[in-house]
Amino acid sequence: SALEMFVDELPDMPRIKGFDIVNGVRVTKSLDIGMFHKTWKFHRDLPPTPVFAYGLSQETATVPGPTIETLQGIHTYITWRNYLPSKHILPWDPTIPTAMPHSSTGIPTVVHLHGGIDEPQSDGHANAWFTAGFRDRGPSWTKEKYHYDNMQHPGTLWYHDHAMGLTRVNILAGLFGAYIIRQPSVELTLQMPYEEEFDRPLLMFDRNFNKDGSIFMNSTGNNPSIHPQWRPEYFADVIIVNGKAWPYMIVRRRRYRFRIINTSNARFFSFYFDNGLEFIHIGSDSAYNNKPIRLNKILLAPSEIAVVLIDFTESNSSSATLCNDAPYPFPSGDQVNKRNSKIMKFIITAGHERDTTRLPTTLIKYPPPNPTSASITRYIVMYEYTSNTDEPTHMYINAKPFEAPVTETPKVGATEIWTVINLTEDTHPLHIHLGLILALNQTKVVGVDEFKSCMMELNDATKCKVDKYVRGETIQVPAHEKGWKNVYKMMPGCETTILVRFSYIHSNESYPFDATAEPGYIYHCHVSDISFNMFVFWIIRSLPAR
Ligand code: C2O
Repeated sequence: SALEMFVDELPDMPRIKGFDIVNGVRVTKSLDIGMFHKTWKFHRDLPPTPVFAYGLSQETATVPGPTIETLQGIHTYITWRNYLPSKHILPWDPTIPTAMPHSSTGIPTVVHLHGGIDEPQSDGHANAWFTAGFRDRGPSWTKEKYHYDNMQHPGTLWYHDHAMGLTRVNILAGLFGAYIIRQPSVELTLQMPYEEEFDRPLLMFDRNFNKDGSIFMNSTGNNPSIHPQWRPEYFADVIIVNGKAWPYMIVRRRRYRFRIINTSNARFFSFYFDNGLEFIHIGSDSAYNNKPIRLNKILLAPSEIAVVLIDFTESNSSSATLCNDAPYPFPSGDQVNKRNSKIMKFIITAGHERDTTRLPTTLIKYPPPNPTSASITRYIVMYEYTSNTDEPTHMYINAKPFEAPVTETPKVGATEIWTVINLTEDTHPLHIHLGLILALNQTKVVGVDEFKSCMMELNDATKCKVDKYVRGETIQVPAHEKGWKNVYKMMPGCETTILVRFSYIHSNESYPFDATAEPGYIYHCHVSDISFNMFVFWIIRSLPAR
């Protein structure tokens, strides 16, 4: 029988401070966060589910993991410890490029702080994986203790597993959590909801379950003769927020801040309220907007973040259900059904509430980008090679696989224009490590097939006369996506121009670390079943000195 909706209360994941206070002074802190095998109750009527969970101890580990709260300018050190067993709880495909431990030393893992501007040795490179007790380590592994600098602007980030070939199953198993960089001296002046009770991360994802409570993942491949277990994308019907299926939250009649993170492997969410309540969008992946923007709908790709205020005094009913109508795969796949179209329910308490927060007219203004200062323009063309059975076999960027030598070598501090042409059928959330991006414009490609066959032959956008094809209709960048981001949705059949900045956008413009060191950084599509698996969608880059 189907699980009943709105019977479990929304949890707030445990909050861990990434700083200490000694004699009233805020100082750096070292944390030890483990990855544990345990069980987790996703729903009142579901037996406990075996999961992999982050936490300070096995007992306190949660799915999602704890919310790490840090302060701008105060460094946080984290030793991520792998306590996982030697056998995975989910099927994984050994025929794709995958982290392979030498013996049965355990499951490879590595943690990436998504949106973090940190030294490459602490960036969680896919080949910097390690097994339990660091007994076995990937070729790019450098050290145990990761250093998070927290020098960037205040905002919302998240951490998640990033191990080569195993990311999708490690994330499906539960290895992700929220990370917040706060800068009270700036943020408090805005007078928006900021206290723990009214400032809540919401990590949203989809899973299916077997009768015994275990996570269901189909382990027969779409095309068993090529890859016995591989399936392109994971979609499921049970929508989970902060570790509970279709939870409810009792809220007061006042403003709240929600940091919504789409931690699904492949599902896009297009959020709206059933009673027309609006979102007041104030920030995105890792940065604030210039000003609040009212929206009825928000589309979030996997790994994207929307920070919103919701003013429950504006609700015309005593409850409001958060819904979703994004097709999957996005944009041309199945329509949502009765189950995956519902997310969670807010139950609004009666009575008058004194709310001392305000809605400012402007938020944080960053120095304006200057596209004319861009030092270089790069073409990035995405397309799939298909086998004769029509199964996509490789996804390349500019015809290069992940294993290819470094392709892009931006200079530290540089601003660049990247022109990304997506010749596939799906929207790809492109994520760039280290850099922050600003979407400039999108233009439809006319004659996708012709351009694609030329690219497959010549692998050269200029030789293929790219300008002949990029001349379709212009698609506006939505107002709330015009700010600094670290992921942008590359629409199918479109050329998207983004400005990429390899430096801070805060007052401090220099790196306090050597960004040119090994193992470098990667950029990739964040549909984790593709990029984090067989389709090699990543290219390592390192940054030579200025
Ligand atoms: Cu969210 Cu390369 O990662």
